[in-house]
Amino acid sequence: MQFKGKTIWITGATSGIGKAVAIELSKEAGHLILSGRNEEALHEVKVNCEQNNCKVTVAPFDLGDTDSIEAAFKKIQKSGLKTDALYNFGGISQRALVSETPLFVDRKLFEVNYFGTIALTKLVLPEMIKNGGGHLAATSSLVGKFGFPYRSSYSASKHALHGFFESLLAENKANNIKVSMIIPGFINTNISVNAVDKEGKAHGKLDDNQANGMPADVCARIICKKLKKDKKEILVGKKDKVMVHIRRFIPAIYYHLASRVKPM
Ligand SMILES: NC(=O)c1ccc[n+]([C@@H]2O[C@H](COP(=O)([O-])OP(=O)(O)OC[C@H]3O[C@@H](n4cnc5c(N)ncnc54)[C@H](OP(=O)(O)O)[C@@H]3O)[C@@H](O)[C@H]2O)c1
Repeated sequence: MQFKGKTIWITGATSGIGKAVAIELSKEAGHLILSGRNEEALHEVKVNCEQNNCKVTVAPFDLGDTDSIEAAFKKIQKSGLKTDALYNFGGISQRALVSETPLFVDRKLFEVNYFGTIALTKLVLPEMIKNGGGHLAATSSLVGKFGFPYRSSYSASKHALHGFFESLLAENKANNIKVSMIIPGFINTNISVNAVDKEGKAHGKLDDNQANGMPADVCARIICKKLKKDKKEILVGKKDKVMVHIRRFIPAIYYHLASRVKPM
C-alpha cells in the first residue's frame, strides 16, 4: 500500500517496533492513529511524528480489555477518520515453563496478543470493506512458526494469529483487503523486560538475544518497505531468521536445538 496521504492505525506504538514504525511511517502517511496503554508515551511519539508534518491522533486502550478497545474505536469513528491500514504491533512475551505456569497467565497472553488484536481488527474490517479495501498487518514472531521453550502460550498466541489472518485474507480477496504477517526475529526492544513470568509479573530483564538483536529503527525500515509492497509474510531479523527454514526443511535439527535452549 502506498502510504502517502493514508490514515494508518498502529498498535504497540508506545515503544519498540511499533514506535519505530510509527516514526518511519510519519514521513509519508497523512494521519496516524497511535495506540498503547501508556498515554504519556503515546504523546511523546505523537510529537516525534508531527515533526515530519504528519497528523496524529492518540487512541489509548488496553488490548486485554475489549471495552476499552471498543471505546477507542468509537471515538475514532466519531472523529470521522477512515482507517486505510491497521498495523498491529501491540503484544507481550513470556518467560516461564509450561509445568510452572498457571492458566491465568496463559489466558492473559491470549487476551492481549490474540483477542485484543482480533477485536480491533474486527471493528475496523467492515469499515475497510465499505471503503473499497484496506491493509491489515499482525505481528507474529519466529516462535509463531515453531514452538520454543519458555514461550508456550506466547508461541501459541502467535500461531493463532496466523490462522486468523490467513482465513481473513482468504475470505476478503474480493473486498480488496490485503494482509501482511510480520515475523520478527530478535529485535532490540523491551519485549523481554515486559514479558510475563510464571506469576504473570514482568520478567524485568533485557535478554542477551534482544540486547544483541536488530535495532528497532532498522527493523522498522525493513517492515515499512515490505508493507508498501503488501508482502504476505515479512520475516525480519538477523541470522536467527534461518530457524524458520530449518524448522520447515530439516525439522530434526530444529527438535535437537530447541530441546537444548537454556532457561533465562
Ligand atoms: N523484540 C523482539 O525480539 C520481538 C520478536 C518477535 C516478535 N515481537 C513482537 O513485536 C511486537 C512489538 O514488540 P516490541 O518488541 O516492540 O516490544 P515492546 O517494546 O515491549 O513493545 C510492546 C508494545 O505493545 C504494547 N502493549 C503491551 N501490552 C499491551 C496491552 N495490554 N494493551 C495495549 N498495548 C499493549 C506496549 O504498549 P503499552 O505498554 O504502552 O501498553 C508496547 O507499545 C509484539 O507483538 C512482539 O510479540 C518482538
